[in-house]
This record gives sequence, structure tokens and C-alpha cells, in this order.
Amino acid sequence: MTPSRSSLPRSIARRTAAVALVAVAGLLAASPTSSAMPDRPAAADVSDGTLAAPDIPLSNVKAHLTQFQSIATANGGNRAHGRTGYKASLDYVKAKLDAAGFTTTVQQFTYSGSTGYNLIADWPGGDPNQVLMAGAHLDSVSSGAGINDNGSGSAAVLETALAVSRAQLQPTKHLRFAWWGAEELGLVGSRYYVNNLPSTDRARVSGYINLDMVGSPNPGYFVYDDDPAIEKVFKDWYAGIGVPTEIETEGDGRSDHASFKNVGIPVGGLFTGASRTKTSAQAAKWGGTSGHAFDRCYHSSCDTTTNINDTALDRNSDALAHAIWTLGTAEPLPPGESYENTTDVAIPDNAAAVTSALTVSGRTGNAPAALRVGVDIKHTWRGDLVVDLLAPDGTAYRLKNSSSSDSADNVITTYTVDASSETANGTWRLRVQDVAAQDTGYIDSWKLTF
Ligand code: TRP
Ligand code: ZN
Ligand code: CA
Repeated sequence: MTPSRSSLPRSIARRTAAVALVAVAGLLAASPTSSAMPDRPAAADVSDGTLAAPDIPLSNVKAHLTQFQSIATANGGNRAHGRTGYKASLDYVKAKLDAAGFTTTVQQFTYSGSTGYNLIADWPGGDPNQVLMAGAHLDSVSSGAGINDNGSGSAAVLETALAVSRAQLQPTKHLRFAWWGAEELGLVGSRYYVNNLPSTDRARVSGYINLDMVGSPNPGYFVYDDDPAIEKVFKDWYAGIGVPTEIETEGDGRSDHASFKNVGIPVGGLFTGASRTKTSAQAAKWGGTSGHAFDRCYHSSCDTTTNINDTALDRNSDALAHAIWTLGTAEPLPPGESYENTTDVAIPDNAAAVTSALTVSGRTGNAPAALRVGVDIKHTWRGDLVVDLLAPDGTAYRLKNSSSSDSADNVITTYTVDASSETANGTWRLRVQDVAAQDTGYIDSWKLTF
């Protein structure tokens, strides 16, 4: 049988209001300012209870790239840390966000004798204890305009933030967007941000999504293999448009998500490839040119507006919006939510172990340090029983040993297990073995409370 969730019903009133707002946003997305045709309905309450994201207009994303190119051209050809083109880029992004109703903060730092800047934009509302972040580095290397690296990610994050404003989204999580300085000098800005975030605020960040190089001219479709919930939302989106993805391997830790990951914040992200060469197998599934780099202009002067694959930029912008809507509008599961299996499982006498399974889904990150395991086993001599909890990866947690002297009936109790090293989502099992002859029983029900 399907394990039942014993939680309170969702708030119908709030959800209905949010759907109505997104319906209005769907009309706005079709207005003359956004020329791209939506490739799917703009407003719907999708089956998992989250809200459907709008299509992000490619033309809007490309307009930001045109601006970054103009800024570089007017400032010595780059947008690098410590150069005038960096601050001009930041001012451009900040003005758009301020006009859209974000609360923006410019964070200054000093690196190699120059002032650097991060830009943080908070969308008012949402649960302050559940902060969903998306970010991109805004600096280029000094040798070029940095339009793919990383005007592309900067523009996709900006346009997604502006879409949140157009939708007047009322997310369940608090949304925060960020543009980092001095990434090219060693993730300097993002590390500064994380290091200066008070530990209480750090603990509130439930996820960070990074976009760095998402419009490579000979693109691959790479998803970071980090937090499973973030990874899944991207993989599902790509599966939905029938485009295969691969796990990002061209340098884990080579972008700003590493600053977050290093302090234990769940991370994910998208990438279309840098200097590595596209294989023939990759060209067969994605198109493009095998034997050539994903981005032959990586860190060079030809990383201009012509160094962009529009399809890749469009897909990754839409994928980010999908992730923000999906993860940001999900109803948070209340603390103490339970998952229960009430199907009886017979425990054969003095024989092999039996198991009862529970599938947990929709949670983020790991199980709690105090996972409660409620067990209801009917048995005529409980000393016969050895009971374990099996995590989704098969790790066994001993709940109870056998004992020839324990002649009492039944095991009806709640155990507490430190399951903090286990991913919450997946199939958990209660394993019960009867190791002595004569008395028998059955698993009546069991439940996990997160
Ligand atoms: N900005 C990164 C860099 O210059 C680009 C990059 C290389 C990257 N490999 C990556 C980004 C892997 C994300 C993931 O190093
Ligand atoms: Zn780079
Ligand atoms: Ca027995």
C-alpha cells in the first residue's frame, strides 16, 4: 500500500490567491515587451502543488548581454574586478532590480588592492528561515568582456528575478538573488559573503543555485551533482523537453557554489562547458562540433555577444525559473511530519528477516539528527526480535537486539535515530527478524517522523 502522510491539509486560501497572481503574470509575459513565444502555459498549478514558472523571454536575457558588452566596450574591453566595467555592470543590474521592487544591498570587500562588490537582491516575503538563493558571478577576466563567462549566468539570474517581480510571486521560501565580484580571482566575493553571513543567517539558507557559463557556443547540458532536490528539479525540467543532461565534471569547486558548499549549504547549478572538448558522443546527443571546446573563447577576448548559443541560454534561463518556482513555492513540510506504513507484515518464526518499506519524497537535504521511528510490532515474545531501520542507501541502524530473557509481548515504542548523514528522500525500511523458535507475530505498522 501507499504510505500515508499524516499532516495537516494545505492552506487552500493562500494557494488560491497565489494562483490568481500568476495568472495575471501570464498576461504580462505575453505583453509586447517580451517578444519570445512562451513554450508552455504560463500559469498552472502543477501536480506536485508548486506553481508553474513563466517562460523567460530569451530576448530579454540577450538584451542584458548587449548591455554588458556595451559596458565592457566603453571600459577598456572588460568587466573585471577592480576595473570600471565591473562597477558599471553592477550598477546596471542593481537599477533593474530596484525598479522591480527588490531590496538591494551592495556589499564591499577589498581584494588585491581594489574594492570589490557583491550585489544581493531580496524579494520581500517568504519564510525568512527558508532562504532560497540563486547567483552568478558578474566579473569577467581582464582579457575580455566575459559575455558567456559569466554575462550569461548573470543575465539569466537577473531575468529570472525580474520574472518573479512581474509575477508578483508570493513564494513560500524567501528568495534572494546574488551577483558576485572577483570570482575569477578565486571565488573571492562569494566567499566573502558566506564568511560574513552570521551563522544564524547561514543556517537559514536552504539552498544555493549557481549559474556560471550557461550559453557556451558549442554547448553541453551539465547539471551539478550536489543537493539531490536541486539536481532533480533541473534534470526533470530537461527530461520534460527531451534534452539529455550529464553531470558537471569540468571542475567541481570552480565556481561560487563552492563557497556555499564548503559551509554545508545545499548547492546545485547549471553549466554548458568551458575549455574542455566536446566528445563525439556528446555531439551526437546535443549537436554542435565534436573535437572542439564547449567554449573556444573561454577567458579570451572573443568572449563577446557572438560567443553565445541562444538555445542553451534560453533553456538554462527557463530551467532556472522552473527551479525557483518549484523550490520556492513548495509548501514547506511542517516539522514533525510523519510517513507511515500500516500494512501488516508477518514475521516468520526463527527465520529470515522481513522488511516493510516507506517512501519519503519532497524533502530537502538529510534526515534529522533525531529521526523518530515509531514501531508497532505485535508478538508473543518480543525477546525473539532483532529490529533495524534501513536508510535509503541500505545503512542499518540497530533499534533493538534480541534478548532471551525479555518475555514481554509486543514492541510498541518510538526510537530516536541520528540519521543526519542520510538523505531524507528515498525508500526506508524497517527490518525485523525473529531469531528464536516458538513465538511469532507481525509488523502492525511503523512510521518515520522527520
Ligand atoms: N568561472 C569558472 C572558471 O573560470 C568557469 C568554470 C570552469 C566552471 N569550470 C566550471 C563553472 C565548472 C562551473 C562549473 O573557472
Ligand atoms: Zn571564468
Ligand atoms: Ca519466535
